[in-house]
Amino acid sequence: MDTSAFFDHLGTAFAGDPQTSDPLDPRWTRIATDVAGYTGPNELAVLNAAAALLPEHEAYLEVGTFKGRSLVGAVAGNEGKKFYAMENFLEFGMAGQEARAELEDNLRTYAASADIALLEGDCFTLMAQPGAVDAPVGVYFYDGEHTLLSHYLALAAVEPLLADEALVLVDDATWPVVQRAHRIFLRRHPGWSVAATWDAAHADDPRWSNGLHALVFRRTGRRTRMSRVDEGLRIYQTRVQDRLNHAAWAVADRFPGITKRVAAVVMGRSRAIGDDDH
Ligand SMILES: C[S@@+](CC[C@H](N)C(=O)[O-])C[C@H]1O[C@@H](n2cnc3c(N)ncnc32)[C@H](O)[C@@H]1O
Repeated sequence: MDTSAFFDHLGTAFAGDPQTSDPLDPRWTRIATDVAGYTGPNELAVLNAAAALLPEHEAYLEVGTFKGRSLVGAVAGNEGKKFYAMENFLEFGMAGQEARAELEDNLRTYAASADIALLEGDCFTLMAQPGAVDAPVGVYFYDGEHTLLSHYLALAAVEPLLADEALVLVDDATWPVVQRAHRIFLRRHPGWSVAATWDAAHADDPRWSNGLHALVFRRTGRRTRMSRVDEGLRIYQTRVQDRLNHAAWAVADRFPGITKRVAAVVMGRSRAIGDDDH
C-alpha cells in the first residue's frame, strides 16, 4: 500500500481540513445514520479512501465489525478488493448476539457485491491462524476491545500479516489507554510511526466518534513472526483474558446497573476525552 499516495489523496474526500470539515460525499453521513454503530462519517470517509487505494493482491482487514457500519463504509464502491472482517460478538452482552443477524442484514442491503470474508471468533486467535487471512494486509482497521493489552496486541498480532508497507487505522484513539498502548508498542517495534491523528473534541464527537489515528508500517527486516514476549502476551490474552471477558459479559447481562457503575469507575480515566468527566 502506497501510504504517501493515501495521505496525498485524502484531502480530495473532504471540503477542507479533514479534522474540521465534513466529507464531500453524503454517503458517509447516510451510512452513519442508517446503519447502527460507533464510527463517525469522517472516519467512514477515511476508511473508504484507504480501501480504494489498496493495490491488487493486498487485502483490507477490520477487527470489530459489530453491526457493520465501518465495513459498509469501507466497501462502498470498492468492488474487486478483498475484505476480511473479524468479530466475536462478545461485547454488549445480548445486544452483541443480536448484532450478528443485523450485520448479515446490513451486508445484504449495503454490501451485496463486496468480497467480504467474515471470520467469527477472537481476533487474536484468528490472526495467528495460518491461512485465515491469505493476502498481505495493506489496510488494517482496529475497532475491537479497548484495553491496554488488546491495543498493544492489535498491532503486535497483525504485524506478521501486514504488507511490507501498510496503513493501520485505530479507532477510539483519543482515549489515553490507546495512545499509551501505541507508545509502548512503538518503542519496542521498528518500522512503525504515527502519521496522522484525527482526535475527538469530546466523547462521541459527531465527525470522529472517539478519534481515529493513522499509523504507517514499513517492514524493516525479514521477521514475519511475533517476538517471544509478544507471543506470550497473545497466549495470555487468548487463554486467560478472553475467558475472563466472557465471564464479565455474562455478569454484565445479569446485573447491568451495577456493572455499568463499576465499568465507569474502572475505565473512567483511561477513556476520558478533553473535559469529559466520564
Ligand atoms: C465498538 S464495536 C465496533 C463498531 C463498528 N466498527 C462500527 O463501525 O460500528 C467493537 C466490536 O469489537 C468486537 N470485539 C471485541 N473484542 C474482540 C475480539 N477479541 N475479537 C473479535 N471481535 C472483538 C465486539 O464484539 C464489538 O462488536
